[in-house]
Formats: sequence, structure tokens, C-alpha cells
Amino acid sequence: MDKTLTIVTPIYYVNSVPHIGTALTTIVSDVCARYGKVRGQKTWFVTGTDENGLKVHEAAVKAGRDPHEFVAEIAEEFKRIWREMDIEFDDFIRTNEPRHHKAVQAAYEKLRAAGYIYADKYEGWYDLSTETFFKETELVDGQSPDGNPVTWVSEENDFFKLSAFQDKILAHIEANPTFILPETRKNEVVAFIKQGLRDVCVTRTNPGWGIPVPGNESKVVYVWFDALLNYIAACGWPDEGWEGKWPADLQMMGKDILTRFHATLWPAMLMGLDLPLPKTLFGHGWILMGKDKISKSLGNVVAPIDLAKELAERGGCTLPVAKDAVRYYSIATLPVESDSTFSVEEFDRKYNADLANDLGNALNRSLSMAHQFLGGVIPDCDPESEVAQKITEAKQGFEKAMETWRCDEAANAAMDLIRFLNKYINDRAPWNLSKNQDPALQPVMYGMLLGIRSAVCLLSPVVPNTATEIARQLNVPVAVSWEEIGSKASLLAGTQLGSPSPIFPRLQPPKPAPKQQPAAEKQPAPKKEEKPVEPISIDDFAKVQLRVGRILEAEPLEGSDKLLKLQVVIDKEKRQIVAGIRAGYQPVDLIGRQVVVVANLKPATLRGVESQGMLLAAVDADGKAILLQPDREAPEGATVR
Ligand code: MSP
Repeated sequence: MDKTLTIVTPIYYVNSVPHIGTALTTIVSDVCARYGKVRGQKTWFVTGTDENGLKVHEAAVKAGRDPHEFVAEIAEEFKRIWREMDIEFDDFIRTNEPRHHKAVQAAYEKLRAAGYIYADKYEGWYDLSTETFFKETELVDGQSPDGNPVTWVSEENDFFKLSAFQDKILAHIEANPTFILPETRKNEVVAFIKQGLRDVCVTRTNPGWGIPVPGNESKVVYVWFDALLNYIAACGWPDEGWEGKWPADLQMMGKDILTRFHATLWPAMLMGLDLPLPKTLFGHGWILMGKDKISKSLGNVVAPIDLAKELAERGGCTLPVAKDAVRYYSIATLPVESDSTFSVEEFDRKYNADLANDLGNALNRSLSMAHQFLGGVIPDCDPESEVAQKITEAKQGFEKAMETWRCDEAANAAMDLIRFLNKYINDRAPWNLSKNQDPALQPVMYGMLLGIRSAVCLLSPVVPNTATEIARQLNVPVAVSWEEIGSKASLLAGTQLGSPSPIFPRLQPPKPAPKQQPAAEKQPAPKKEEKPVEPISIDDFAKVQLRVGRILEAEPLEGSDKLLKLQVVIDKEKRQIVAGIRAGYQPVDLIGRQVVVVANLKPATLRGVESQGMLLAAVDADGKAILLQPDREAPEGATVR
């Protein structure tokens, strides 16, 4: 039987709902799983909820709720939020499910029978918020090393012989270079193990919540011991059939739960159960808010879906694209070795720089020019060799990065291709090739379109909704086999391209607050004297020739903070137009856009530059231009009446 590619997230505590920190682990895992799927592998991606901790029970009791109902509701909320963020999980495991209870009790009995669990007295400190035991010597100023309060525990308990596995775990890490990633985390883990692993207390007095110890109802299984077993429980262990899914190929998590739990206790438990170890444990860094952790008590929680909704409202992109932007940001700024700091400003900057400027610009320019110069039909030719080579490099770079689950480097390899394409368009200037009827026009245009198609296919696990929208605009199928990416089969000659329509409108910086004038000084605005408008005849109006044009290039006019210099094509004819629209538009947002041009205006010289026409625009209350644009794609050069 073919082994499935199994990818799992940690299971989340149900005393909070997802925020951009917990979402990070889930989004990265989802991207890895989607990558497996696009590579054609049978993939199984699991997430779930960790429900047996004492804190959860306390929260339910405090809220006057039945704990089972309480956790079931929160687990549903997790599922809903993950689905809303386009997380494509194949299974969702809850530690209150019978399949999990069964696996925990079976594992407990097996380890006890093998002599790895023994009874003893436990005395030590317990941190309830992270469910961790600490020695006296590990406390810092009477608190846990993370600064959490601890309580003294003195109980008869069962212990797991973690110390017996110390050398075996070290040997496994040594023999399997990708068992713990990234490298720096591996070094931390090895240093921790070399300090000496001590046996772990694996039971607590039964508070009426948790999984009872087999044969001793007065005790429940320690919540970490219970929670870690979710991974094999979800695979169906101890019943037959688990071998098709276990071992996991990737266990993704934050660094906080790697060293003490996943890289020591978990492998030891698996070794004691005679089960194979996961192939890779990946411990990423944290997202911080300034210097602080994200936490409800600090009031700094940002929900991923709220971030997406706000972006859609502020930026005007659709919600599916805004969700992709959150996913893209999480991946592109993934904290791997160290931590990262979240701010809305940085989120906006990344959106504008990578998605609006780089990706959006490359797509709009390529599609618009293909309509302009090739009648919107994909030409039948090969791309120029430098483009073909860059596509191969991007694909290989993506694959190499994903061998060690570096989604951030993989995304960057695809974005490198996009950045290359924008430069290539500038260098090869298809508008000149067209004007000069240069035969290079077709290969250049094909390379631009194939480059975009390839980069977007590579990025599809990160930005699935954007990939769908771009495929729609290119009028090609969304799905393409991995082998086909970069080949001509992925972009068939003769295809009639769809209409370009900006996917990532650029975010404008927030308006500065208007200066407040003291009330007494406020003068009523002088009324504009309205001149009576003389009616004109239809013949007068007919003298004005209005045509639909398309902006191909846009740049600020040197020496002016109001004017932009535009290259606009009206059907086959190219015009240079100087327009006073700089206050309302960024040049990159204009490229590819259709506009209405007064085509028979006498040329004028503005700041030493000739302007061969005028764009029609409305004016807002601040005097800023609002360009008129056909309601849907109009034929090139269409007459406006
Ligand atoms: N329930 C345990 C895991 C048990 S797995 C057998 C747990 N849950 S958690 O809800 O607190 O955290 C789940 C994951 O979210 C962990 O990988 C954790 O590192 C990650 N993150 C929580 N906050 C985070 C950030 N601010 N930044 C990045 N990841 C963070 O631990």
C-alpha cells in the first residue's frame, strides 16, 4: 500500500480561538499539504483540539456550562474559522472523542506492561497555563521560566521513564539530519537532552475531567501525555490500518512546544510503543506584537479573518483575495530561526510591494499588452531562452525549499520569477517591438504570459483563490500537473485570453486627519459663482472625439507633484498624455486600465512634455480626479458617444 503524505498541526487549546499566531502554524501546514496535493501525492492533513486540560474545565465551570458542550462548541468554532481561512484539513481530531480515549488508554497500558510506567511520589511545581512540571531549580523568581505562576504539587503518581530514551533519541537525531528542522532548533534540542532527561509524571488526581488511567479511576492521564497521542489516534491506532498514515511526514509547530514535548517526550513514547517516529518535526518561531506575546489578557489578539476583512474593506480587493493576502503574509514573513513582529503597517507594506506592485503589475501589463498587440490570443511560439531558464530556476528553487518545508523560501523563489518578469517587460519593451513589427514580439509576449502562469501555479498552495482568479483571467484551467508547470502544455497557443481586471488594488496610506480650526475662526466657504451653462447643439458635441484607450505605461512627471506621464494606446495608435491625476492614483494601479480619452484635442505642452490628448475624470470633494472607465471591457479604441 502506498504510504500517504501525512501532515499534522499541534492540536489547539480550546481556551482561546485562533489568532494570527496559532493561524501561522495551521497556514504553514496547510500550504505544505496543498503542495503535496499539487505534486500528485495522496495527502492527509490533520488538525484538531486539545480539550482535556484543567484550565478548560475551570473555564466551563466558571461560565456555568456543561464542560462537554462547552468544548464541543469551541471545537466547532475552530473548524469554522479554519474553513473560513481556506484551511483544507482532511480530518479534525478532538481529544474528547472515543477514538482518542481508546488510543490513550491502549498506549498507557502497553507502556505500563513494558515497564516504562511506574508508580512513585511526585513533588514539584506545576504551571497550569502551559501544563508543565518544573523542578525547583528551573523556577525564575518563583515563577515558570516563561513567567507563569506555579503551584506546589505533592501526589502519589505514575511516571514515564523518559530518562531511559535519552541516548536513543540523541542517536536518532544524529542519524536523521532532517528529523528536527530548522538546524538551529535541532541544536537547542540536542543541548537540552544532553543536560539529562528526567522521568515525567504522567498522572494527576482526577478532577472529573480528562482521560482516566486504566485500572485507576482516581487518576487522569497528564494532559501532554494524552495530547501527543492524538497523532496516532487520528491515524486509527491501535486498530488496523494506521500504517497507511503513520509515521507523519511533517509535524509543524511553534518552537515553544518542540524541545520539552515533541522532540523528547513524544519520540520516547513512540519508541516505548515500538512505533516509527515522525519524519520531520519543524519548529518555527513566534509572531510577536511589539515585544509582547499575543494573548487575550494583553488585549492584542488579531483574528486572521478580521485582518482579511479589514484589508478587503480598505483596499477594495475581494474577500477571497484578502484571505490569500493574509496567507501570503504569514508565509513570506514566516519566522523560522527567530521571531517576527506583526504590525498592520508591515502587513500593508508587504501587500503593496509583493502582491499589488510585483504580481498585480506583471499580470496586468502582460494581459493588457496581449490584448493590445496580439488581439488577446496566446501566440504559437516558444518563450525566449532567458525566460525559459528563469522559469526552470524558480520551479527548482521552489522544490528544493519544500524538501525541508521552507515555505517562505519557496514563495520567494516564485516571487523572484515575477520580479524578473517585470524587469524583462521593461527591458524588452513590447510596445516598441509592436511598433517596429519586430518578430520578437510573439516570443516575448509568450514568455511574459508563461512566466506568470508558472509563478502562479507554483504559488497556488499559498494563494489558492488568487490562482483561481488569475487562471480565470488567462482563461486556462486552474489545475495543472506539477510536471506541466513551465511547459507549453500549461498555456496552450490559440487560447483567447480573458479580460484583465486588477486583483490587488493598491492600499493608499491613511489620510492625515484634517487640521482642526478653532470654531471662532472658521469662515463659511465662499459660494462659487455658478455661471449659467450655455446649451450646445448635438453638432457641437459631435466635434469632440471620445475613444476608449488603454494605459500601458505610467510614471510621475518630473518636477510636478500633480501630473503623471502616461502612454495610452487607442486601438493601434500610441499617445503620450500628461494627466493631473497623481493625487488619486499610483502609477502601477493604472497600467492595463481602460480609460476614456478626448482623442482630437490639440496637443499641448505641459512642463516641457507634449500631451496628445486628455482623460475624462470626475472630481471628488478634495479636487482629486476619479477616472472614468468602461463598465466592462470595451473593444480597443471603441468610440464613446
Ligand atoms: N495544545 C498544545 C499543543 C498540543 S500538541 C500535542 C498547544 N496549543 S496552543 O494552542 O497553545 O498552541 C498551538 C500552536 O500555536 C503551537 O504550535 C504554538 O507554538 C503556536 N502559536 C501560538 N501562538 C503563537 C504565536 N504568537 N506565534 C507563532 N505561533 C504560535 O500548545
